[in-house]
Amino acid sequence: MYSLTIRREAEADIPAIRELTSRAFVGKPYSKQREAQIVESLRDADALTLSFIVVKGPDVAGHVGAAPVEISDGTPNWYFVGPISVAPEHQGEGVGSLLMERALAELRELGAGGAVALGDPNYYGRFGLANVPDLVYPEYDPQYFMALPLADDAVPTGEVRFPLGFRA
Ligand SMILES: CC(C)(COP(=O)(O)OP(=O)(O)OC[C@H]1O[C@@H](n2cnc3c(N)ncnc32)[C@H](O)[C@@H]1OP(=O)(O)O)[C@@H](O)C(=O)NCCC(=O)NCCS
Repeated sequence: MYSLTIRREAEADIPAIRELTSRAFVGKPYSKQREAQIVESLRDADALTLSFIVVKGPDVAGHVGAAPVEISDGTPNWYFVGPISVAPEHQGEGVGSLLMERALAELRELGAGGAVALGDPNYYGRFGLANVPDLVYPEYDPQYFMALPLADDAVPTGEVRFPLGFRA
């Protein structure tokens, strides 16, 4: 039985990240199958603030990224956390939790005011992310948009804009 190791991405991990991200989202109702491209676009735009992988034995089992967002009321230091992807054969092994907990801890370390995420509310809710009425991502189904303040309890008001290269 292999244990899980988490570390920052290295250049050699990029093909495995692309491959597992593509496979993880097949058939998900909140996905347009663009996540692998989103990760690459963020990286190319130098906007991938965090990029962690979990390694299990010979496999890259999971990946999470984070990137800065702009909020229309001018609130600084908020981040998008995601996409988070676990290879189908490694789901349910704790990989996703390890990635989310590390990403949120690192964002706190960076002094982030908060995090937003797009995806399954049942999953992100486990980590405190929740739908918020006054912070919106207009191009997206609101039930799949969530936020979590990290510095205090304040949630900004307005629209979230994603970095260059991001189209969910
Ligand atoms: C969602 C995902 C990241 C979870 O990763 P994972 O490694 O399978 O999750 P973990 O093993 O850490 O599971 C942690 C807990 O979350 C639960 N969980 C997993 N997926 C869940 C979901 N979609 N909704 C609710 N709970 C979920 C697990 O049952 C587990 O519960 P337990 O601790 O009570 O046993 C992974 O399944 C995945 O990549 N899915 C496809 C892509 C995706 O949907 N990404 C996230 C949304 S953008």
